[in-house]
Amino acid sequence: MAKLTIRDLDVRGKRVFLRVDYNVPLEEKDGQMLITDDTRIVATLPTLKLLMEKGGKLILTAHLGRPKGKRDATMSLKPVAARLSALLGKPVAFVDDCIGDKVEKAVGAMKDGDVMLLENVRYYNEEEKNDPAFAEKLAKVADVYVNDAFGAAHRAHASTEGVARVVAKRGGKCAAGLLMERELKFLGDELDKPARPFVVILGGAKVSDKIKVIDRLLEKADTILIGGAMAYTFRLAQGYKTGKSLVEPDKADTARAALEKAEVKKVKFLLPVDDVVAVPVKTDKLDKKGKPVIEWQNARTNTDMNCPDDAAGLDIGIATVAAYSAEIAKAKTILWNGPMGLFENKQFAIGTNAIALAVVDATQKNGAKSIIGGGDSVKALNKAKLGNQVTFMSTGGGASLEFLEGAVLPGVAALSDK
Ligand code: 3PG
Ligand code: MG
Repeated sequence: MAKLTIRDLDVRGKRVFLRVDYNVPLEEKDGQMLITDDTRIVATLPTLKLLMEKGGKLILTAHLGRPKGKRDATMSLKPVAARLSALLGKPVAFVDDCIGDKVEKAVGAMKDGDVMLLENVRYYNEEEKNDPAFAEKLAKVADVYVNDAFGAAHRAHASTEGVARVVAKRGGKCAAGLLMERELKFLGDELDKPARPFVVILGGAKVSDKIKVIDRLLEKADTILIGGAMAYTFRLAQGYKTGKSLVEPDKADTARAALEKAEVKKVKFLLPVDDVVAVPVKTDKLDKKGKPVIEWQNARTNTDMNCPDDAAGLDIGIATVAAYSAEIAKAKTILWNGPMGLFENKQFAIGTNAIALAVVDATQKNGAKSIIGGGDSVKALNKAKLGNQVTFMSTGGGASLEFLEGAVLPGVAALSDK
């Protein structure tokens, strides 16, 4: 990586303005917001510890949710400060604003090695607008800028991009944190020159979400395994019936083009050979979004490439699991992005969990490098308690996907070159 990292910095006595991605899931319980998954907080600890050791004054800034420029108590970062303090085993000061006198005063009282977390930057509309005047205000307490928020690096916002420009213009350094460095190493360098065979597993609901990634990986992968509802748009492209499965008819041409490119590039491109189908029945119950809860009836394995008219495909079947696992077992590098089915529902998580086990096996027994590209696949691995048995799990969702598409992330571009 050609970007400066915190290893290269001397931060003793300096105010380090550190952007982190603490956009963690919260749940309300008895009027309190509780963190249900602190992975993203834990992932920044090496960066914090190194900067503390080096004697910096750490001013952390982050967003939580999408408050759209308004103060919303359910999206306060206060509970995050408490969790961070517990994880670090030292006090973490919390300031209930991210700009202004209150912040400047609190920072003025900091000692070397102190840690402070500022309130949600998205309480200001100017953050998402990347407003230059707002970036100047943030930068008032910054001698050095560090970005460890890989998960938000696809956003050109004031705290991820604008403030770096301000610091750099003053001659200050802008560096990547250790998490950012690791993300770029595994999703970037390791996949640029992968040990072969390089097997890519792609799932999820939509072809449209993944087509750029598919197209790019068709240049690099030896094998691509397709799962999730996305597979049905490919089936549609091949002329099969897809019943009530989730499909994107307007993306059938795109799917066909990918199949043709795979042939030209001699990439082994596998689609499910069997699946689990079920009949959707609307119930009277409503989900959190107020939509009727669907009950799945008559779930069964289907070995016909055509889906029954009254059913939808919801998971890959056992023959597909076997075929995909055999490919995964040969891999030296594995990239996985997207679940194989509706894994949130236990009934349809079998395929995703079996693929997770195959990836873990290849990692543990064959020494394959397994890289999990964020979002739902990370959720699925954690749910199966297998997260610590793969080589790397990204903390990014949208950011990982954009990076895998080959996009330049604004939060990375703004950092100083080595
Ligand atoms: C995420 O959770 O994907 C990142 O923190 C970015 O959040 P955003 O999608 O609201 O910009
Ligand atoms: Mg998001």
